Amino acid sequence: MILSVHDLKVNYGAIPGIRKIDFDVNEGEIVALIGANGAGKSTTMRAITGLLPFQGRVVYRGRDLAPMHAERNLANGLALVPEGRGILTRMTVEENLRMGGYLRRDKAQLETEIVATYERFAILGERRSGIAGFLSGGEQQILAIARALLARPKLLLLDEPSLGLAPMMTAQIFDFISEFRKQGLTVLLAEQKSKHSLAIADRAFLFSMGEVVASGAARDLAEGSLIRNTMMALV
Ligand SMILES: Nc1ncnc2c1ncn2[C@@H]1O[C@H](COP(=O)(O)OP(=O)(O)OP(=O)(O)O)[C@@H](O)[C@H]1O
Ligand SMILES: [Mg+2]
Repeated sequence: MILSVHDLKVNYGAIPGIRKIDFDVNEGEIVALIGANGAGKSTTMRAITGLLPFQGRVVYRGRDLAPMHAERNLANGLALVPEGRGILTRMTVEENLRMGGYLRRDKAQLETEIVATYERFAILGERRSGIAGFLSGGEQQILAIARALLARPKLLLLDEPSLGLAPMMTAQIFDFISEFRKQGLTVLLAEQKSKHSLAIADRAFLFSMGEVVASGAARDLAEGSLIRNTMMALV
């Protein structure tokens, strides 16, 4: 098991962000966190990666993570692609990519991987000197993911990667995510659009009002009536 979360609770001042979240992720899995707007998916991801204070336990590779250590967590392989992508829109594609590797000491290897990134994601190669803000939404999402990969994550957390994207671009992003798993990466994926994420995930946890209300094999959840009832408006 690469990650287990016990009794996770986050408050935004007097407002409860999440009340009680429990789930786990095995090595090599794609695990989907699904749920409606405001269910607590982003809060959970931000707490795990060290961007929000939390109560409860986050155990990553056998060790309890202290809250609010984003940089240390990143160096240890926890990389978040945040909701809204977090691209530096006035900087070039290449400058954005380099941000992903800023904590790495193996700079020569990093250079090799940046070149490989341009081959793997052709659009980034074509636009490497271009201003990132001029990329389309989908291209920016690819840039955000590629940047996170350059941190050499062991667990990649993707928060709503399909947000605002056209269906074809969404399909391409989800294809990439499936490929990452084949290469041994573990992925935690938060999505309102459960249909796509359940199609590529191994297991899923359904969030509602800051709690986990259902969990299981993604295939079962996709077919189950529970999710249909709970998420009628979203599927
Ligand atoms: N910065 C904030 N300040 C105050 N409350 C917040 C803040 N961010 C989130 N919340 C609240 O925390 C709860 C969980 O929100 P969160 O953004 O984690 O949900 P989500 O599942 O990611 O939703 P979405 O699908 O819209 O991204 C909601 O009630 C939300 O209003
Ligand atoms: Mg969110």
